[in-house]
Amino acid sequence: MSRVVLVSNRVMDLRKAAQAGGVAVALAHIVRTRPSLWFGWSGEVKPAEEAAVPTQTGRMVTVPLSPTEHERYYLGYANSVLWPVFHNRLDVAQFEAGYFEQYIEVNRRLASLLQPLIRAEDVIWVHDYHLIPLAVELRRLGVLNRIGFYLHIPFPPWQTFIALPEHAQLARCLAAYDLVGLQTMADVSNLLDYLANGVHGSVTPDGRIRMFDRLLTVASFPIGIDVADFTRTVRDVALVQGRGMRRIIGVDRLDYTKGLPQKFKAFGQFLESNPQYRRQVVLTQIAPPTRENVGAYADIRQQLETLAGSINGCFGELDWVPIHYIHRAAPRRRLTAIYRSSRIALVTPLRDGMNLVAKEYVASQDPEDPGVLILSRFAGAAEELAQALIVNPYDIYATAEVVRAALEMQLDERRARHRALMAVIEKSDLAEWCNSFLRALSRASANNDPTTWTQPESIRRAMERLSQSVHTSPSDPTERGPQAAPTPTYPC
Ligand code: G6P
Repeated sequence: MSRVVLVSNRVMDLRKAAQAGGVAVALAHIVRTRPSLWFGWSGEVKPAEEAAVPTQTGRMVTVPLSPTEHERYYLGYANSVLWPVFHNRLDVAQFEAGYFEQYIEVNRRLASLLQPLIRAEDVIWVHDYHLIPLAVELRRLGVLNRIGFYLHIPFPPWQTFIALPEHAQLARCLAAYDLVGLQTMADVSNLLDYLANGVHGSVTPDGRIRMFDRLLTVASFPIGIDVADFTRTVRDVALVQGRGMRRIIGVDRLDYTKGLPQKFKAFGQFLESNPQYRRQVVLTQIAPPTRENVGAYADIRQQLETLAGSINGCFGELDWVPIHYIHRAAPRRRLTAIYRSSRIALVTPLRDGMNLVAKEYVASQDPEDPGVLILSRFAGAAEELAQALIVNPYDIYATAEVVRAALEMQLDERRARHRALMAVIEKSDLAEWCNSFLRALSRASANNDPTTWTQPESIRRAMERLSQSVHTSPSDPTERGPQAAPTPTYPC
């Protein structure tokens, strides 16, 4: 078995990664189960001189970022430009001069630190939007290995993507990979639309994409969870307190893409329309803070605290607080028990690559008496989990109705839906995700002839041009993202 060199923006201690969810859990699983090396940012910000040196601990090699890199690469281009654009939120994207150049610079620096660690037989697997240019930079240094890229977040409609001033440079960067993996078929379709319309890519008879004189394979590989591990964890822990109450659980990073205000409003609307359920149901929302130095995240905490306060003030009683809002991460071991004791999971992002909370909730249920998953149609998971109750999170009235329907669902139907959902989750688990991507990468035709490699020069020229200009946010109102949820009718 070849060694897999994993590269992601954030690298974590394996014990912490197991509690972090999402990308970190998936990569930690690979590190535990295969010959591998995991390379990326340590999460530390250090002066430039100290940030230049990588640290190796077992299979993990980490690098700090300098303050400028952290500001312009991580907070800047990755999380103030790419994150909102890929989540179809052009209205909050901050197209600032200097961000893209720093993004390329950090990828170049990471490539130069990684290249000496790569062996001829390694397979390289790069993760997420922070590192799109990494393959270009590795190729430039003469790396001939197979290199795959996996995007954990959604790919937007092509007309959103072309609003990115640097969209064509990013497409050139993608062309340096042998395989590009996405979460869903809808994402694949968006990327193919973009490649055809934005950069004149064409599909070859064998299904690959020809662009910039290179051949690229694009496919969907829906990420899954480690089901067995989950079931084991469930048996190990005691149920959390509050057993008499029917609990609705939400677990989301405090991100504007997660639809938290809409969720709170829908719950308020549910209490307004269904007084018979007051004092019987509680919404527990765990929302750990994230990227607090990015402008677009500034208001969300206050907005949610105000909403929770107003709904609790309106409906709460001395012995019942309808919304338990926790602004901290919960340990993973505890979370599993909370999932199992919750009658409903409300997973209602406005846009999400996959959303593994949906799968974790289902896997944590007691098959004899399972809870009900309410899932946004805009989460990648909705493509696979058709037996969940699928909602439009913008429609708070309909979501409120679905909450009632979920509470009233009979045991037979809950069991049948749970069985169907578990079948999907077990079939496309974490191991299958990893194996299918690596199988496809080993089949993807070698795309690594250094003599045809001309892109770095064009990237360099683009950077020179970019550094002369200042980009501003789009002013065309037709390009704006989703509007705030309507105010519900409950009286407070
Ligand atoms: C999303 C991204 C990951 C990222 C995670 C946490 O899931 O796809 O790449 O690591 O959010 O965000 P952070 O900015 O804290 O790494």
